Amino acid sequence: MDKILVRGGKPLKGKIPISGAKNSALTLLPCALLTDEPLTLRNLPRLADIDGFQHLLNQFGISTMIAGSRPEDFGRVMTLSATRLTSTIAPYELVRKMRASILVLGPMLARAGEATVSLPGGCAIGNRPIDLHLKALEAIGAEIEMAAGYVKAIAPKGRLTGGTYTFPVVSVGATENVVMAAVLANGTSEIKNAAREPEIVDLCNLLVAMGASIDGIGTSHLTIQGKDRLHGATYRVMSDRIEAGSYACAAAMTGGDVELLGAKMSEMDATVDALRAAGVMVEESADAIRVKANGPLQALTLETAPYPGFATDMQAQFMAMLCMADGASVLTETIFENRYMHVSELGRMGADIETKGRTAILRGVEKLTGAPVMATDLRASMSLVIAGLVAEGETEVSRLYHLDRGYERLEEKLQLVGADIERVGAD
Ligand code: UD1
Repeated sequence: MDKILVRGGKPLKGKIPISGAKNSALTLLPCALLTDEPLTLRNLPRLADIDGFQHLLNQFGISTMIAGSRPEDFGRVMTLSATRLTSTIAPYELVRKMRASILVLGPMLARAGEATVSLPGGCAIGNRPIDLHLKALEAIGAEIEMAAGYVKAIAPKGRLTGGTYTFPVVSVGATENVVMAAVLANGTSEIKNAAREPEIVDLCNLLVAMGASIDGIGTSHLTIQGKDRLHGATYRVMSDRIEAGSYACAAAMTGGDVELLGAKMSEMDATVDALRAAGVMVEESADAIRVKANGPLQALTLETAPYPGFATDMQAQFMAMLCMADGASVLTETIFENRYMHVSELGRMGADIETKGRTAILRGVEKLTGAPVMATDLRASMSLVIAGLVAEGETEVSRLYHLDRGYERLEEKLQLVGADIERVGAD
């Protein structure tokens, strides 16, 4: 298994190209199920999760073609054609590796009138049930059965009816699933307390480009008039606000000055506000965000929340950044119950962090020291890389499987801005 070696102490300086958003791509890809015409997605990140999703879609008889990108380019273009579906079953072997596979349930059900999906696996950040996905689909006409670790959803008479659903808790994935199902229903759907993450706006914009009718895009109340059919489209995946935020934390912590090419401030307001509150200079230009350290970092009090609040996907990276801030920071995780797996690893590098339930108290330390570390989720792994960029000596990050799911060519991008980082094969 490969490892990443980081030798800390170099301020990051220069330009980092930001890739297409993983979480957006994972909900745009299954939209190929909604039409028998080709769907072309541009700016797809090159990531293990995207490859995994492609294989899952191939399993249903969807053909996928990757065009025109050279190995040295970031991102790629994929054309997906679901002219005829040969299977409506998402098997355990594929789904267990990637939780986002559950996102085929809604669009498959809408297109084929039935879908059978294994219960998902994925990041170990808490229990992560799918009850809201199922309740929302039932509200728009699905009948759901569970058997032998699989969910089977059926649209009686072959087509969903539409209906109204109010989410008791905001869920990104469940909102995506029900929206993808509702666009082909034989009626109108109202989705209340919907998630409104930028990735959901990206999804709705693609669906509208495919002929869907959706009102309230960007709000928590979506009204969807089902259509008899959708058509193909060509669409560019939005840039990855979490990747951009991660490199922003890395730049700030190392006393650096970077331009995040393609990042959009309007999609990451809460991250930008938190960086500024920590004393970091952040400004936007036409096609980039510049992040520049401006003296010692200040401690922060942050609480994760659904968009437009502070993203749970940024919590671990801020925790790393604040390890050496001036004073004590308080971070509270309200979305997932088991999302502090980086705390003990950061502690092994010299961080002073105490957790009490969902709250972590960090007292800024003078220095961190390199150590062998590993984490069991994607953003936690990134937090260890960030800490490694300032730690004295060498940090060895293993279990790169997680990083490769979500950061396109991480070490190359960090080398571009002067980091001393390399990937090595373990003996
Ligand atoms: C998505 C993102 C993930 C991010 C998360 C929250 C993707 C591929 N993943 O995950 O990176 O951390 O949003 O911003 O886009 N819940 C239920 N029942 C359900 C569904 C969710 O109780 O049926 C709970 C979850 O356990 C969690 C909360 O709702 O406590 C929010 O989860 P959700 O927004 O659904 O996260 P994901 O869509 O899985």
